[in-house]
Amino acid sequence: MADEAMARQGKTLTLSVFSRRKRDGNKLVVLTAYDLTSALIAAAGGVDAILVGDSVGMVVLGHNNTLPVTMADMVHHCRAVVRARPRVPVIVDMPYGSFHVSPEATVANALGLIKEGGAHAVKVEGGQQRREVIQALVAAEIPVMGHLGLTPQSVNRLGGYKVQGREEAAARQLRDEARLLAEWGCFALVLECVPSSLAEQVSAEVPIPTIGIGAGAGCDGQVLVFHDMLGLFTGLKPKFVKRYAELGTAARDAVARYAAEVRGGEFPAPEHTYDEKPSGRTDGSPANVSGQSGYLGDLAEDGK
Ligand code: KIV
Repeated sequence: MADEAMARQGKTLTLSVFSRRKRDGNKLVVLTAYDLTSALIAAAGGVDAILVGDSVGMVVLGHNNTLPVTMADMVHHCRAVVRARPRVPVIVDMPYGSFHVSPEATVANALGLIKEGGAHAVKVEGGQQRREVIQALVAAEIPVMGHLGLTPQSVNRLGGYKVQGREEAAARQLRDEARLLAEWGCFALVLECVPSSLAEQVSAEVPIPTIGIGAGAGCDGQVLVFHDMLGLFTGLKPKFVKRYAELGTAARDAVARYAAEVRGGEFPAPEHTYDEKPSGRTDGSPANVSGQSGYLGDLAEDGK
């Protein structure tokens, strides 16, 4: 049975979806989420996996880059995503500093993201220099997703957000590092902002799926940031982002209408207000004990 059909029937996808899709030549769809609502939307939209990205630092927490994001931030947001019970694997970014000190500290931090955050896997940025920590994570039975190309946590070293792997030597290094990540046991690999020909070559060379962002159509799957693809984060629009909706504009228009209606006395209207005495029920039972309005009790839409 196809994965899409399984998901529709309420079955749970596990991390094995990554190797299965690569084997069967079907694309993987990954989206970031940072809280209950974004995770519910992502899952209902039919993604194969959710990434609790440290992009949370930029699109939710208001930082200029991902460097200030803490372990506590990632645990907090991961828990909110997991509470949505999305029935797809949840992968969480290890934030800057959480895997740079020692393999022991890295494993302890990753265990925190799994045990407290509820994630199924962690993502670690970097190649060659991550050998020890990735091997330690894999030895501790923590599934690891790699991340090569533009690694945003390296923004200071890279001197900004730039396309990576354009020069021959850099491309060769990236291909070597992709092979190493697979050898060390990563189950998948994000390729960010690299030429599409290089991403295609890597995808053909490595046995694990490549998940592209700004890396062209030759990858085994794609990932986008929730706020970018929905047009919620309008500060910056890199070339690789496609906006599938303009929710930021729609939300601003809605807020402006609300403000105008409050000031004009149109909101709240009679249908949004309560009568003095509750009508109908005399036993204090909620409007509908089995559904959403039961949960809301007298606050439900049909509450008087
Ligand atoms: O933090 C993030 O959202 C990411 C994706 C862009 C891959 O790392």
